[in-house]
Amino acid sequence: MPTFAEIKKILSDCQQSHLLRFWDELNEKEQSQFLEQLGTINFKEASDIFTKAQNSLSEDVQKLDSRMKPIPPEQFESEKSVNEKILGEYKSTGLEAIANNEVAVLLLAGGQGTRLGVNYPKGMFSVGLPSGKPLFQIQAERIRRVMSLAKQQTGKTGKICWYIMTSGPTNFTTKDFLRKNDYFGLNKDDVKLFQQGLLPCYDFDGKIFLDEKHIVALAPDGNGGIYRSLHQNGILEDMKKRGIKYVHVHSVDNILIKVADPVFIGYCVKKEADCGAKVVSKAEPTEAVGVVCQVDGKFQVVEYSEITEATANLRDSDGNLLFNAGNICNHFFTTDFLNKVAANFERELKLHVAKKKIPHVNENGEKIKPSSPNGIKVEKFVFDVFQFAKKFVTWEVPRNSEFSALKNADSVGKDCSLTSRRDLFNLHKSYIEKAGGKVTCDGVEISPLLSYAGESLEVRVKDKVFDTTTVILSDEEILKNGNVICDGDCR
Ligand code: UTP
Repeated sequence: MPTFAEIKKILSDCQQSHLLRFWDELNEKEQSQFLEQLGTINFKEASDIFTKAQNSLSEDVQKLDSRMKPIPPEQFESEKSVNEKILGEYKSTGLEAIANNEVAVLLLAGGQGTRLGVNYPKGMFSVGLPSGKPLFQIQAERIRRVMSLAKQQTGKTGKICWYIMTSGPTNFTTKDFLRKNDYFGLNKDDVKLFQQGLLPCYDFDGKIFLDEKHIVALAPDGNGGIYRSLHQNGILEDMKKRGIKYVHVHSVDNILIKVADPVFIGYCVKKEADCGAKVVSKAEPTEAVGVVCQVDGKFQVVEYSEITEATANLRDSDGNLLFNAGNICNHFFTTDFLNKVAANFERELKLHVAKKKIPHVNENGEKIKPSSPNGIKVEKFVFDVFQFAKKFVTWEVPRNSEFSALKNADSVGKDCSLTSRRDLFNLHKSYIEKAGGKVTCDGVEISPLLSYAGESLEVRVKDKVFDTTTVILSDEEILKNGNVICDGDCR
């Protein structure tokens, strides 16, 4: 731990001496806690970050239209235009990699879920399915199922390590929740939590806020914090030890996520890509979703606000939107690529700056909860690394089978638990109908332990009619719980 004199000097050099304003009022414990926290912050870097952030705020938001090009056809493939044979080859390649212990999943779970508005990590949220399963459980069970598919194909028992990036605000609760639920059937040693970094919150002049008289106001450094924290927490080393070559990275809030998707992994492996993005076609030209494209010859995600409406509406000769590859926070990386980014490019990541209402202690020692933005938070984004790839590819999938994000409270009516539930029910209905069953209500859920993507359902559903809210369970669950059918509440 640094001494008071050392910290005082650093803060004075970086024009942040105000942070010690209440030092003499603190008790011994608070002083020691404060010194410890101050010692973990790189104030020189924090100054540089603010300068960079300020520059980006004062730049005119320039429309990128004239510099944009769509993804070249050789770096793009769409599931709907690939024949069954090739699709089968991709899947088989992915399952083989899983069976060989070469695949890991990295879950981005450090966000604070402010729009959803619950006071616990989003992964613990249950969207109200008949089973009541929360997002973490659904994802863990999909991992278990895909491991068993890999075993069925190869005869080998491969392991998928589940790395979960949490943050200061989500770490303890997530850890506790997973432990209490016995890691939802995954092996404890193959579930590894690590914390992303934090960055200071600044006022508009670059002065760092105090959250309490002895606590600096910090916030998670964005989902692009993975690159630094993978290195700092020894996760890249752990991946190396385990022989992991491929990592599937995704957000916590997509209820349809195909975790460790063997088709996507197989596609990227076959194309010898070091970085890949799964995308969905935009729902409409004005949809507020980032699109994957090239800007000045480099791959990146362009936000809707960065292009004009005319460009958003451009169409190719087939009538499809020219900039159509909607980014859904679903990525493939080789571990070599992650190592390369962590070692060489992490500091070059773009800083995304947002004006926010930041609660703080003012110069009179009063706690203030501002009603309008009073400062900035800085974040890095996971997708800002495409430009560093040797070979970047994109894989387009149908939205209705792969993407439905949980962002908002139900009152918003969009990207909320209502739509998550509806989209999962619709997908599962289509699986059941494909397997020869019929669904006449809205609430039939298939356990991820029974089926990953619609397979293995015939024995359970062929020639059956499902007319009440039901969970179709796996054998393992039936043995454990009995064949529980949840009636009613088919919202
Ligand atoms: P979002 O940007 O949607 O943020 O995250 P959020 O925290 O879920 O929700 P809001 O904006 O506060 O309402 C997309 C994904 O990135 C993760 C989230 O957990 C989610 O899986 N994320 C976000 C992090 O892991 N760390 C961060 O600092 C921010």
